[in-house]
Parts: sequence; C-alpha cells; structure tokens
Amino acid sequence: MAAYEYETHTYDAIVVGAGGSGLRATLGLAEQGLKTACITKVFPTRSHTVAAQGGIAASLSNMGPDHWQWHMYDTVKGSDWLGDTDAMEYLAREAPKAVYELEHYGVPFSRTEEGKIYQRPFGGHTTEFGEGPPVQRTCAAADRTGHAILHTLYGQSLKQKAEFYIEYFAIDLIMSDDGVCQGVVAWKLDDGTMHVFNAKMVVLATGGYGRAYFSATSAHTCTGDGGGMVARQGLPLQDMEFVQFHPTGIYGAGCLITEGARGEGGYLTNSEGERFMERYAPTYKDLASRDVVSRCMTMEIREGRGVGPKKDHIHLNLNHLPPETLDLRLPGITESARIFAGVDLTKEPIPVQPTVHYNMGGIPTNYWGEVLNPTTDNPDATVPGLMAVGEAGCASVHGANRLGSNSLIDLVVFGRAAAIRAGQIVDPTTQNGPLNQASVDAAFDRFDKLRHADGSTPTAALRLEMQEAMQADAAVFRTDKTLAEGVARMTEIAGKMADIKVTDRSLVWNSDLMETLELANLMPNALATIVSAEARKESRGAHAHEDYPDRNDTDWRKHTLAVVDGARVDLAYRPVHLDPLTTEDEGGIDMKKIAPKKRVY
Ligand code: FUM
Repeated sequence: MAAYEYETHTYDAIVVGAGGSGLRATLGLAEQGLKTACITKVFPTRSHTVAAQGGIAASLSNMGPDHWQWHMYDTVKGSDWLGDTDAMEYLAREAPKAVYELEHYGVPFSRTEEGKIYQRPFGGHTTEFGEGPPVQRTCAAADRTGHAILHTLYGQSLKQKAEFYIEYFAIDLIMSDDGVCQGVVAWKLDDGTMHVFNAKMVVLATGGYGRAYFSATSAHTCTGDGGGMVARQGLPLQDMEFVQFHPTGIYGAGCLITEGARGEGGYLTNSEGERFMERYAPTYKDLASRDVVSRCMTMEIREGRGVGPKKDHIHLNLNHLPPETLDLRLPGITESARIFAGVDLTKEPIPVQPTVHYNMGGIPTNYWGEVLNPTTDNPDATVPGLMAVGEAGCASVHGANRLGSNSLIDLVVFGRAAAIRAGQIVDPTTQNGPLNQASVDAAFDRFDKLRHADGSTPTAALRLEMQEAMQADAAVFRTDKTLAEGVARMTEIAGKMADIKVTDRSLVWNSDLMETLELANLMPNALATIVSAEARKESRGAHAHEDYPDRNDTDWRKHTLAVVDGARVDLAYRPVHLDPLTTEDEGGIDMKKIAPKKRVY
C-alpha cells in the first residue's frame, strides 16, 4: 500500500470544478448556509466556461414574442426525442428565473435601447412550436457571455464565504462499501501535498471530455475527470455516443467562432460561393440546429465543394455586416479570426470546419443533479451523496443533440437545482461520518502506480493515438465499418494504459503525472463513446449512421448506459422519461405538440 501523508478537510458539501455549473452550485450551497468548498484544477475564472461566447437561452421575450413552451419544444426537437421530458420542461421553465438571477448577481449583459437584456437568434430556436420564424432567445454579453458569467459567479461565491481549493487535482471518489459517496482524494499541484475531503455531498462539475478528440473547441483541461472517477467506481456513463460537432471551428486551429455570428446575419458558402444551407434547410437555413449544419458542411466537402487548396473546409461570411455590429456584438471573434486565421473579417470570410464541441452524454442524473445507478427494478435509483451537473452530467436535457446556448442555461439551471436539492438532503447540524479507509487507500495506490509507471508508452504518444482514432472513427458520419474498426482500435489503445511511461516522479508541478491522470480519465470516456456508438443501429441527433440513416423510435428511443472496466465496456439501456412535470391542465405543455415526428428545419 502506498504511504502518503495527507490533510483531512471536512465540509457539508464539496463541488469539484469551478466552471459555470460548479460555481452556480457552489454559490447556491453557500447561500443556504452549508459549509461549502469548491476544488478546482485551474483558477476558477480560467475554467472552460470562460470560452463560451454566443449566449444563454431563456424565453425572456425582450426582442419579440416568446414562451417557455416554445423553448421546451425546440429543446425536445433539438434532442431528436431522446431528452428526458421532465428535465427539458424544468430547463425551459426555470431559464428566465435563472437568467434574471444572473442579472441581479451582476452579469454585465449587453442591452437593448430600452435597457433590457439583449437577445440574439441561435440555431434551432424558433417560435410557434417550430412553425414560426426564428426567435431572439439567446441572452448575450457581446460574444463573451461565459466570461461575464464566470467572473460574476466567482465573486458572488466568495461573498457567500464559499472556500476554494485552487489548483487541486481530484484523483478519485471515496465510496463506502454500500455505495455512498463520502468525499474525494485530491493532489495539490503547486506543493505536492495530498488532501482528503470528507463531505456529505459531492457535486461533480468537471466539464466534458472534448480532448478525447484531436480537434476540439474545448480547452486542454476538458479531460472528463468526473466521468473517469465515476467509471472507476463501476457506475455507468450515459448516451456517450452523442458528440456534438460545432459547425464553425476555425480551420486548423479549432478555436470557436460563435453561432452568434450566424445569429447576427453571417452565412456559410462553398467553393462556388453558394449559400448551400438554403438547399438543405429551406426554412431556417444557416440557423438550423448544429448537427444538421455540421452534416451539410461535411456533405459539401465530400462532394468536392469545399474551399481552400485541399477543398476541405467552408467559408463563414461576415464581411457584409456593418462594422459597428462586429464591434458591438462580435468583438471576441473579430480578434480570434485575426489571431488564429489571419483574417480581417470586415473584408474576408473565415475558414471554418465542423469541430468537436460538446458531449451530450455524461454521468446520468435526474433533473436535481442526483447521480443515477439504474437497477433492474429501478431505472432511476440514485447514488447517495453524489451529484453531477453541467457538461459532466447527463440530466438528460440535450438528448442526442444540444441546441446552441442551451449549455450555459443548463449550467446555471442545474447547478442551482443541485444546490436546492442538496439543501433538502444535507443536514448541516450533523457530524460527517467516518471515511472508508480502504477507498482512500485505493485512491492513493492508483495515484502512486501511475506516478511510478515505467512502461514503454509515453503519455503524449498514447493520448495522440486515442485522439486520432476518435477523430477518424467516431466522426460526424459513422458506418458499421468505421465504428467496428474504432472499437477494435480503442480497445487496443485503452489496453496500453498498462504500459504507460511517466518520466517525472516528483510531486510538485508534475505536468507529466497530471496529464497521465487526465489520460486515465479520458480513456473510459472515449471507450464508452465508441462502443455505445457501435451498438446504436439508427441515426439520431449527432449520431449520423450511414448504414441506418433513419431514426428508429421503436427500438432505440432509449438511453445507453456504459460500464467501463479497463478496456472492457458493458452496455445496458434505460427508458427515456416521457412524462412532463406538469399536465396541460396544470399549465404544462400540450403533449401532442412534442410528439415525435420527422426532424426538419
Ligand atoms: O456558438 C457558440 O457561441 C456556442 C454556444 C454553445 O455551445 O452553446
């Protein structure tokens, strides 16, 4: 057994991760008087939410008529009927409240002439249950909305006396023998000390795992740490086959160019200068939902109408927009285009390509953020003491495809919901129970084994192999052949974790070891993705299967559950929640409006 000295910290609640959902949960927990700590591997305002550009969806009706039921309908349709109905109702209903709370906390939203929060159009957001024109629903702080939200929530959390453990890397969950989460073990990166956190509630807000792919808009820190920790406890990951490609990553660099660019009037063209989206999505054109636009771009490229010497990307045109609009509404991407594409977007189009952006799948939860461990008798059985929110979680509110600007609202609505629920469950007057020492020791043993790993495969080499396999075989379009090859390749790659080589054995600022721990987290996420995708014999949302081009609700309107053990993945399924929170008589949605139908834009 590895012998590490450690310091023990005791809290009512700890949150792992300080992005939008982690900070909103931290703030909500601390506001209720719970002794709360947030553990984060990066400084809070450097969390990946800082990169969110276009905005946050809520039916405020500031720019024209809107309704939470229209937002719910768009989310249901966007999810390709895989989202859980109760969670989608909760999101759409609570969204305006959550945004006004942000406003009152101090988020510096852009304003209309009358001083209201400015809202812009985004893909897939419509009026009249998809029958009316696009709606301006996405509340924006220029094109730096995530930045504005993150800074505000961090300030408010400090004001509420939440404690922050910054640049601490969470290694593993501490679980009791009967499956209750009791805390986490963490490594302090700047001085090499080890820490054990005992908590009555652990909230995982660790973000997505975009870095399982070669080209992603996600920060290099998006390594699926929460999913990795959960998988190591034998708990399932849900709907991992659904990986979103954002239509407009800068060609080559992968940096995000916000969908808000198309919301403000930008449009895509092919090598013939044609606005091709008009052919594929005659009603909403460039504002169709993301999976649709990414597929159309890929088809244009495949059919030889891509731009550039290799004809392998597409142009995003903004040079027709008034320079004042670019200055006021899109200053961030004006800068990104200049720095990363060498383009003056007042004069030239931006070269873009579909780029991995978001994981719809994650740790299964109910709409309160409680982590699920479905059993045969109870598909909604929860794991006591454990929650997951934000991109790490799968509520499931985005189903098979997320609408743009539904991510930031997911972060704050479900971060807030988790805090409310934890406030009902956690009793601050009781003492924390003793920790399961065997679970603490197991975390240190795994850490120590990786620290001293002396195989022949350097971490960076294995990570690249994984990223290239995922990029090639779990792409925008998939086939039985590519997926079967992907499963074989990824199984072999995951097996090589046993042969990993770490060269730096120190404990202070050891980026070699940290990247190895991150790779150990990415691996089960990647493996679950490819195996779940190979098994799903239909096309739905972001899972575009060329051998099964249609959605098959009879056999496949169900959530995938993947339990990963080393290089082995076992799959099971759980039913989609079809019931809303409220009936039509209670002011809820008319269920006929959200009945499954063909998804066209
Ligand atoms: O395009 C964007 O600004 C991204 C927004 C989102 O992913 O929600």
